[in-house]
Amino acid sequence: MGAMSQPGPSSQPEPGVGKGRLTYGSYLRVPELLSLQQELSSPAHHDELLFIVSHQVYELWFKQMLHELRAIAEHLDGGRVTRASQLFERVHAVQSLLTAQIPVLETMFSVEFARFRDRLRPASGFQSVQFRLLEFFSGRKNERMVTLVGDDDRAREQMLAALAGPTLYDHLMRCLAGHGVAIPADVLGRDTRLAYAGDARVAEALAPVYRDSHGRFDLFRLCEHFVEYDERLAIWRFHHVQMVERMIGGMAGTGGSAGARYLSTTLWGKLFPDLWAVRDRLADAGAQAAAEGGTGAGGRSGG
Ligand code: HEM
Repeated sequence: MGAMSQPGPSSQPEPGVGKGRLTYGSYLRVPELLSLQQELSSPAHHDELLFIVSHQVYELWFKQMLHELRAIAEHLDGGRVTRASQLFERVHAVQSLLTAQIPVLETMFSVEFARFRDRLRPASGFQSVQFRLLEFFSGRKNERMVTLVGDDDRAREQMLAALAGPTLYDHLMRCLAGHGVAIPADVLGRDTRLAYAGDARVAEALAPVYRDSHGRFDLFRLCEHFVEYDERLAIWRFHHVQMVERMIGGMAGTGGSAGARYLSTTLWGKLFPDLWAVRDRLADAGAQAAAEGGTGAGGRSGG
């Protein structure tokens, strides 16, 4: 190697051992983090570490997603559509990771999983509090989960608060109303404790935004971020249930459900039904654009 490729001692970072200096390890709490993977199998099965790490990584990303979605809600309340959309890009990227990491766990053979699976009972991903918080905030509210999942008072409190409060979609409705979209007053003032099953009047109110997707691009794009979020979560669910079938076939889950059969029932509901229903109202968008002599931009350029 030549002299140029050999950094001198002065170009090396100074050692940060002790003396209370901030280091990579102390800032990120690496020693604590690396002490949190405790296998239950004895002697530890080689694949159990992968199983634990995978789930822990999910929980970290769930934390990040909740952080971003709460910030998105604040931006929506403040009418900051572009900023909300920008953070949604991040959420989608994280969602892609969540699905992309399933094949890592699938490198574990089902016969190997069977060698330590019994030790995990009755623990299950079903009990992920953060996953339920994500679901509730995304509009899939289910009060029964509080007793089924909440394993401590703080978790229960968080879940009850999420059950009572507005969903991300409620924030969207208010934001759209603030930007002149004709969202019905009773939808804006709805009892947020209740599940929202969709409303044809909202889909009707959204249709002009979609038809004028160029002219009202910011609002249109924001709505599409919601759809993308919904779709990506569904894709994760689908891949998860495939993995479950591959790992445990038709057996019951460690959490006590009917396993893949139960999970299949969670696949098809839409989080934001109005945003899917609006598509049914766009059949005439092409004809309308032609009549206006444009490309759907309402005769305007740019956007
Ligand atoms: C070997 C891999 C896995 C298997 C065999 C598996 C199996 C299952 C089963 C059978 C259920 C249904 C509840 C039950 O009775 O236990 C379930 C639910 C769930 N699992 Fe997994 N899982 C695996 C990996 C993961 C990973 C890596 C995550 C990431 C956090 C995860 C998150 C969840 C969640 C959130 C639920 C609840 C879904 C719902 O109720 O809609 N699972 N899993």
